[in-house]
Amino acid sequence: MMAFNIKNNILSKLFPIITVLLIFIRGFESFNLYSLETRYIEVPVDHFSATPITKYFYLRYMVNAKYYRKGGPVFVYTGGNRDISITAQNSGFLFDIAPIFNAVLVFIEHRYYGTSLPFGNASFATIENLKYLSTTQALADFAFLIDALKKKFFQKAEPPFIAFGGHYGGMLAAWLRLKYPHSVDGAITSSAPILYFPELTSCEGYYKTVTRVFKVYGKEKCVKTIKLGWEVILDLTKSNLGKDYISSTWKLCNKLKTPEDVDIFLDWLANVYIKLAMVNYPYSSEYFEPVPAFPVMVFCNKLTSNYVNNTKGFIQNYAEALQMITNYTGQTDCINIFYKQEDSNEVAWQYQTCTELIMPKCSTDEDMFLTKNWNYQQFALNCYKQFGVRSRPNGPLTYGKNVDSYSNVVFSNSMLDPGAWGGAYLKSADTLNDSVLTYQIIDAPHLMDLRGSDSADDNNIVTARKFYISTIKKWLKRG
Ligand SMILES: *[C@@H]1O[C@H](CO)[C@@H](O)[C@H](O)[C@H]1NC(C)=O
Ligand SMILES: *[C@@H]1O[C@H](CO)[C@@H](O)[C@H](O)[C@H]1NC(C)=O
Ligand SMILES: *[C@@H]1O[C@H](CO)[C@@H](O)[C@H](O)[C@H]1NC(C)=O
Ligand SMILES: *[C@@H]1O[C@H](CO)[C@@H](O)[C@H](O)[C@H]1NC(C)=O
Repeated sequence: MMAFNIKNNILSKLFPIITVLLIFIRGFESFNLYSLETRYIEVPVDHFSATPITKYFYLRYMVNAKYYRKGGPVFVYTGGNRDISITAQNSGFLFDIAPIFNAVLVFIEHRYYGTSLPFGNASFATIENLKYLSTTQALADFAFLIDALKKKFFQKAEPPFIAFGGHYGGMLAAWLRLKYPHSVDGAITSSAPILYFPELTSCEGYYKTVTRVFKVYGKEKCVKTIKLGWEVILDLTKSNLGKDYISSTWKLCNKLKTPEDVDIFLDWLANVYIKLAMVNYPYSSEYFEPVPAFPVMVFCNKLTSNYVNNTKGFIQNYAEALQMITNYTGQTDCINIFYKQEDSNEVAWQYQTCTELIMPKCSTDEDMFLTKNWNYQQFALNCYKQFGVRSRPNGPLTYGKNVDSYSNVVFSNSMLDPGAWGGAYLKSADTLNDSVLTYQIIDAPHLMDLRGSDSADDNNIVTARKFYISTIKKWLKRG
């Protein structure tokens, strides 16, 4: 509980910073590729109370009706663990296909993310306020809004609604179809780790997939250098001088002082690699932050071409290689390794992955990360220290363990997307109900299929998108 209180203090102190950051991000909105109108709907804080609902909050959603023609369908994106305005800007596929279908687009924000905060700036302040952050409440928000839209805009003839979602948002799109089948007529999901729970999926695949991306795009030498890097860093950070050296050459915003700081630094670095593997698009992009085309290749080329065999030179070269990624625009003054503690979206996701969405991760000799066991007891204890709540592993399995109990869902997964580990691709398509379709994309970064088309797209992606379009057409004909 102690840690939880400390965390509260950190969060409330940092909220002004987060607000400033939001304004900063908004400042860029004029550069946004896709135009959307922001709207809000009042939704119950608790959908499942049997007594009259008294507390509501504003859930944000964003609409584009530019391509809508009467009789066209509604495409809803069920937002996951991100600010929905960012998700929308990275979901160009929906904008590309809206004119084909005369569709209206609705992107719905997930509660506790972005600006959809049930208790405003106090949403993360107490366990009591956090307890409405759950998949069941989020799904009920989506169904509630869809119902309201149907009542308000489509009284005479209800158009078909199709859900879309990537990763966690993809799990939600599939679950929405399963739990509220009258809400949406079908769901296209991309890299949704729908089976990623301790009981069903082993822990090593996530880091292995990241490593595979680095092997394919950075070659074996890069993986070896990264492995060596962990040892060099661990060795160097044993001393204060070493900590100072890393802090200054890597331009960290806060100096590394304690062993805990070093752990957070190592975790930050591991996350840089995960994110790099995810956004290894063939064009420059801004999924997390701005990165060049094929960032894994860019980073690995730099890291391995100027390899220096002494600790200081190695660390210096490492910093320079990383800068090409973390400081692509040249506008990052310093590196903030504490972002996970400071960004409310990250805190919300940590809470969810501590309570319901427990996705076991471990690293072994076969990947490029520091060896880390998966120990559920330890994991749950850390979560309890952080949030003061107990974990509920395998909780969402009450939605069903068998993907063939769904209907009108596409489960699409890319074999080079770490986020797809735990996806429904382990079964071969022919064992599934014919309205549940799995689709494998051989080589594509995270949710690339849901991005807008680009001249750098390869055949795999183009074919996947064609498959989604023809499947939606089938569903619309049937409906
Ligand atoms: C939330 O914002 C209000 C008004 O801006 C302020 O008075 C309050 O202290 C803030 N609460 C927290 C937990 O930051
Ligand atoms: C330098 O080379 C030696 C011998 O090959 C190796 O053991 C050591 O790990 C290398 N150090 C660095 C920082 O690359
Ligand atoms: C990012 O690049 C700019 C311009 O080259 C430089 O001034 C700044 O120190 C760099 N920041 C980091 C964190 O490396
Ligand atoms: C698949 O599920 C749908 C909906 O439950 C059902 O109508 C259909 O008959 C099933 N198809 C097969 C091949 O089992």
